[in-house]
Amino acid sequence: MSDPLPIIRTISQLRAQVTAWKAAGHTIGLVPTMGALHHGHLSLVNAISKHADKTIVSIFVNPTQFGEGEDLDTYPRQEQDDRESLLETPAALIYAPSVNEMYPDGFSSKVTLSGITQILEGAERPGHFDGVATIVSKLLLQCLPDVAIFGEKDYQQLAVIRKFVADLDIPVKIIGGALIREMDGLAASSRNAYLNPEERQIAGQFNIILEGLIKAVKTGTSLRDAEHAAQNSLLEVGFKSVDYVTVADGKTLQQLDKLQAGARVLAVARIAGIRLLDNMAIEAP
Ligand code: PAF
Repeated sequence: MSDPLPIIRTISQLRAQVTAWKAAGHTIGLVPTMGALHHGHLSLVNAISKHADKTIVSIFVNPTQFGEGEDLDTYPRQEQDDRESLLETPAALIYAPSVNEMYPDGFSSKVTLSGITQILEGAERPGHFDGVATIVSKLLLQCLPDVAIFGEKDYQQLAVIRKFVADLDIPVKIIGGALIREMDGLAASSRNAYLNPEERQIAGQFNIILEGLIKAVKTGTSLRDAEHAAQNSLLEVGFKSVDYVTVADGKTLQQLDKLQAGARVLAVARIAGIRLLDNMAIEAP
């Protein structure tokens, strides 16, 4: 019996499979991941399968998007568990290349963007978006999918990917997948697994505090006051530090002075060195 969910590891195997599917008239969807799959990822797989006949899930912990002192070495790697989870979804293929397959000796190129990559996550993690843009470009060129999906949890990443795909005329449709939350409202993330029970409880306050900010700005509190109040509340409930809480334009991600249509709150706070991200649309009052 043929394998219901093969794992392939080389660009040539991937190209052969994609060519065969396209020759048979199938459309291709790609879900890029770094593995340690949770229900947020699985929702992306289910969502893209409505837009494509064959869904490829890539699993690659991309070294170039981790900065010095970040968690590259400890990032959870659990390929067999990931495959088990994907067996419950419409995924057709796992693409899990090695670091050497993606960055062979002598690799020296970089996809880099100005503007949107210099603020928020880009300011906190210099070089991070170069790494993301480079690997996502490679994955798109290797898979040549009709459609690719990225979670709205990493909202700025999605905006960066939309931008370079448009700038470079890469022929793929990019879809944003809804942010998925745990039972208590914490945004689903592979890094939540690092939290001990006490930290996990504190983390559960994150979205509640952001919801409070949204309520405040809708009832007339100034954006700066509401951002400061949210930062203070995060520290009070036990977060160790706050990288940013900002109300920004949902497209440019520039901080706003006044509430306007398309506004979004984006925030990053840390517990014991673990960075947790969240963002929410601010619907018109
Ligand atoms: O969001 C992620 O998991 C990664 O940044 C991505 C898009 C798979 C690129 O490595």
